[in-house]
Amino acid sequence: MDGHKLKEDQLKEEIFQKIKDFYELKHKHQEFIPGKTKVNYAGRIYDEREMIAAVDSILDFWLTLKDKDEAFCKKFSELLGVRHTLLVNSGSSGNLLAVAALRSNQFSRQLKQGDEIITPAMNFSTALNPIIQNGLTPVIIDSEVGTYNLNSNELEKAYSPKTKAIMAPHILGNPCEMDVIMDFAQDKNLIVIEDTCDALDSRYGGKLCGTFGEMGTYSFYAAHHIFMGEGGAVVTQSEELFKILKSLRDWGRVYNHDDLKLPFDERFSYKLDGKTYDSRYFFTNIGYNLKPLDLQAAIGLVQLDKLSRFTEIRKENFNKLYKALSQYGEFILPHAPKKADPSWFAFTITLDTDKFSRFDLVKFLEEKQIQTRYPFAGNISKHPAYKGFPMRIVGNLEQSNRIMDNSFFVGLFPGINDAMLDYVIEKFHEFMAEHLRR
Ligand SMILES: Cc1ncc(COP(=O)(O)O)c(C=O)c1O
Repeated sequence: MDGHKLKEDQLKEEIFQKIKDFYELKHKHQEFIPGKTKVNYAGRIYDEREMIAAVDSILDFWLTLKDKDEAFCKKFSELLGVRHTLLVNSGSSGNLLAVAALRSNQFSRQLKQGDEIITPAMNFSTALNPIIQNGLTPVIIDSEVGTYNLNSNELEKAYSPKTKAIMAPHILGNPCEMDVIMDFAQDKNLIVIEDTCDALDSRYGGKLCGTFGEMGTYSFYAAHHIFMGEGGAVVTQSEELFKILKSLRDWGRVYNHDDLKLPFDERFSYKLDGKTYDSRYFFTNIGYNLKPLDLQAAIGLVQLDKLSRFTEIRKENFNKLYKALSQYGEFILPHAPKKADPSWFAFTITLDTDKFSRFDLVKFLEEKQIQTRYPFAGNISKHPAYKGFPMRIVGNLEQSNRIMDNSFFVGLFPGINDAMLDYVIEKFHEFMAEHLRR
C-alpha cells in the first residue's frame, strides 16, 4: 500500500472513531421519561454504522449515484426476489415514475389520455396524484374499515372498457388481497402497481408485497420501515419497464446499462435525422430528474441488514397493543386479510361509540405526549386539491367517509420500547376508565 493511501485510511479510521464517540454522546442515550418524552408514531432507528456509512460516502465526495447505489439495488432485488430495482429520491417519485412509465411511447401497452386507473379513496396523495399528472382518470373505490385497504369486492363495479390499471397501496403496512386483485387484473388485462411505501417486508400468501404486480414502489423516508432520510425505489421483473423507468428518472435520456462506463462506440450509436448523435443528450422519454445521492444508498445498505429485526419488533408491538385494547368494544381494531402477514406501519383504530369523540381521545393522547395521526386522506376525493379534475367515483365511499371521521393511528415502530408501549397502554386505559364511567 502506498504511503498516501495508508495516510488516507488512517485519517478515515480517526474520523470514524470520532463519529462513534459523537454517536455515543449525542444520539445513543435517549432516556424515556413518561409524560415528558414524546412517543412518536414513527422515526429513524440508527446507530453509528449509518452515520459512518454516510460520512464515508461524503469523504469519497462523488456524491451522485455510484457504487453504493449499485450495491443497494442488488441487495434489495435479492431480498425481494425481483430482477430490477431503481433507486429514486422518494416514494412519491417512485409512484410518479411507475405511472409515467405506462404513458411512455416506449411501452408496448402504452396508456392513452383519459384511460383509467382504479385506486382507493383512503389513500395517500402521491399514490393518486401521478394518475392525474399523467392525463389519466382515477377511478375511486371504497376502502374498508379495519384493513384500511381498497375493498377488492368493488373492483368489478369500478371496471369500464377504459380501465387499464390498478394502483393498489398496501396502506399502513397491511397487505391488500393480492390474489383477488391479481386474478381480476389478469381477467381484465390490467396492469398492477403496488404502492408498498408503508409495507416493506409485509407478505401475502408468503410472497412479499410489491412483487405481485408489474411494478412495486417503496419509500425510505425517515418514517418508513427502513430509511435513507428521503428516498424510494421502484422494483419490476420487466426489462422493458425498467429501461423506461430509468430513462424517466434520468431526464428522459436513452437507457444505458451503465452511464458511468459507457463505451465510446455505444455512446455514438444513436441516430437523429439519420446522423450520429451523442447518447448523453438523446432523449427517448419525457423525463424528470428524480435521482437520490449515493450517501442515501449507503445508509440504506446498513438499514437493510436490520430489516428483519425491525419487522419482528413491529409485529411484537402490534400484538401487545392489540391484546391490551381488544377489551374495548368502542374500538374497531386493525385486522389483516386471511393470507396476510403484515409488518405493520402503525396501529389504526376506528371509533364505534358516541361516549366520546375521536377529537377527545386524540387530544388526550397528544397531551400525554403520545403522537397520533389520521389515516392519510380519509376520503381523498373530498380534498380541495382535486376539485375540477376528472375523477370517476364508484358508489358512496361510505367506509372511507367513516374512516375520515372516526379513525386515527398511533405508532408501533421499533423506536417504541416496552416501557413506552406500557405507557401508551396505560394512557388508553386511563382515558377509557374516565369516559366509560360517565
Ligand atoms: C402509501 C404511501 N405512498 C406514498 C408515500 C410517499 O412516500 P415519500 O414520503 O417517500 O414520498 C407515502 C408516505 O408516507 C405513503 O404512505
